[in-house]
Amino acid sequence: MRSPRKFLPLLLLPVLALAGCRQDMHDQPRFKPLAKSDFYGDLRSARQPVDGTVARGQLHEDTYFYTGKVGNLFGDYMPFPVNQDVLTRGQQRFNIYCAPCHSRVGDGNGMIVQRGFRAPPSYHTDRLRKAPLGYLFNVMTDGFGAMPDYAAQIPAHDRWAIVAYIRALQLSQAATSADAPSGQKVPSEPPVFQGDPPSGATAPELAPQASAEQSSGASSTNQGEEHK
Ligand code: HEC
Repeated sequence: MRSPRKFLPLLLLPVLALAGCRQDMHDQPRFKPLAKSDFYGDLRSARQPVDGTVARGQLHEDTYFYTGKVGNLFGDYMPFPVNQDVLTRGQQRFNIYCAPCHSRVGDGNGMIVQRGFRAPPSYHTDRLRKAPLGYLFNVMTDGFGAMPDYAAQIPAHDRWAIVAYIRALQLSQAATSADAPSGQKVPSEPPVFQGDPPSGATAPELAPQASAEQSSGASSTNQGEEHK
């Protein structure tokens, strides 16, 4: 067998040849964004999209899903069925994007407000309890007064999940013992946590759910989830 060392220069040759090509790529003719060009009549280098073209993924045919409106009015229905997964997702997104101002229970006293931002109204007023679902969706989509819009941060499906969760919050905050399943203590027992106390950056860890036979105190450890 011949020594592979002999072939080394041969192997390196295409690498060197390719490295030479790179220089041309650095010098491609191109326009800087929005630079002037006298190639076209309107002197713009940036071209308008051809009339009627729609970018991939941006064909918003289902108007209600993207606006919360039916004609000029806000609709009052969900554009897809709500199940436990939707509410869990809505709770999670709400706690990330809305709770900093609106608080986790929606009374409008979130941490940013405690530090001086304009206080939003509580969700637990008659006006907002009766607000159509499409209205809540629209506030997130277009913003409202001092509140910025969240259309860029939160995709439409998640915004609807938040709408469903706000309605659940409104129900739970105005619930009476008659709304609770029989046998359920009102107010419910506080959740039992395990491990070290959470820091501001970590969520508390719930103790594993105790079996049904155990005393009533331990059997309600999942009550922290009750707002769903
Ligand atoms: C930076 C703070 C802030 C965040 C975050 C925030 N909001 Fe608001 N929100 C406000 C303020 C302030 C108002 C009242 C605005 C006004 O009256 O000018 C408001 C008002 C509202 C209203 C009531 C509108 C009305 O008719 O009175 C709803 C509903 C609402 N927000 C939903 C949400 C949802 C859902 C989210 C999360 C996606 C969210 N907000 C995130 C500050 C915030």
